[in-house]
Amino acid sequence: MTRSFIAGIGSYVPPKRVTNDDLAKLMTTSDEWIHLRTGIRERRFAEPGVYCSDLALKAVEQAVADADISVGDIDFIIFATLSPDHFFPGTACYLQAKLGLEGVPCLDVRNQCTGFMYSLAVADAFVRSGMYRRVLVVGSEVHSSGLDFSDAGRDVSVIFGDGAGAAIVSPCDDPNRGILYNELHADGRFAKALCVDLFDISRKPFMSPETASTREIWPSMNGKKVFKHAIVRLIEVFKSTLEAQGITAEDIKYIIPHQANKRINQIVADKLEIPREKFLHNMQHYGNTTAASIPLLLDETYRAGKIEPGDLLMLIGFGSGFTWGATLLRW
Ligand code: ACO
Repeated sequence: MTRSFIAGIGSYVPPKRVTNDDLAKLMTTSDEWIHLRTGIRERRFAEPGVYCSDLALKAVEQAVADADISVGDIDFIIFATLSPDHFFPGTACYLQAKLGLEGVPCLDVRNQCTGFMYSLAVADAFVRSGMYRRVLVVGSEVHSSGLDFSDAGRDVSVIFGDGAGAAIVSPCDDPNRGILYNELHADGRFAKALCVDLFDISRKPFMSPETASTREIWPSMNGKKVFKHAIVRLIEVFKSTLEAQGITAEDIKYIIPHQANKRINQIVADKLEIPREKFLHNMQHYGNTTAASIPLLLDETYRAGKIEPGDLLMLIGFGSGFTWGATLLRW
């Protein structure tokens, strides 16, 4: 059986660091509050004029080099983001033009914090079916232009940061290696628990100067609801992945969780009775980069030399939608 595997990986964050103390100059908050509640110390913000397709481009250059292919070998592009370059067309098209890949098909995935896992599952299916052989999967975000830095938006704006991650998904003949299992879920009953209402197509016109001047332009989040559901769903999907694959938590070297909140991941680890060190983190440096967070952490861990061939890894995430999922892969 042909499996797919991550043949190359890369990531990129913009150079501008924004510490919790920097945010405390804009709103009533503190390094202590943010770090204690979320584990975040700083994040990166893109400069004006930078799109998420630009951050993606830099991550793709690394992924292509790591896979030892050339950009021209890419035969499909999947782009996960909640901060697209424009309302439409999809950001994969903007990235495709920047890569000079005219004619290569493009797909945008709008699944927020689980966008990378959903995209990986689609790439895996394409590769296993034989339809495409070098699928580029990207998660990239420029959150910093869509956050309210006044006190009214402080619950949301302190947690997000900008960044990008990319992977090349290719066929792998070794049946014991690569993407072994994907499990994806969603529950749209909770769509309004974390959303941006600005683009309301039922209105004619969908946006007006009046609506653009309301709080609707900013993300709204019921943080406690998201927090509680994240813990329950991440535990569920972790357990069902183990069960589906007939393995135990001891078989897994690292869990690469979405980087929304360190406390969420620690509670999940404790309830599953898994050592906290198996759940890796980098949100202290980058905050929550949504679709980019999992590939960014995976890439950093790989480049730090912590992942050996044969290691079993689990990616897990939960986010707006609600959407959640897990990917089990052997490196
Ligand atoms: N600085 C200081 N005080 C703050 C801040 C801030 N940045 N934000 C809120 N507060 C205040 C509140 O006003 C409140 O004050 P009050 O008690 O006087 O009313 C107090 O702190 C507690 O606020 P809560 O919202 O109850 O704080 P909580 O402990 O729930 O933490 C947080 C908030 C960090 C946002 C948490 O709810 C969380 O992480 N939720 C999950 C986020 C998540 O996982 N998102 C999903 C992924 S994102 C995606 O999919 C796009």
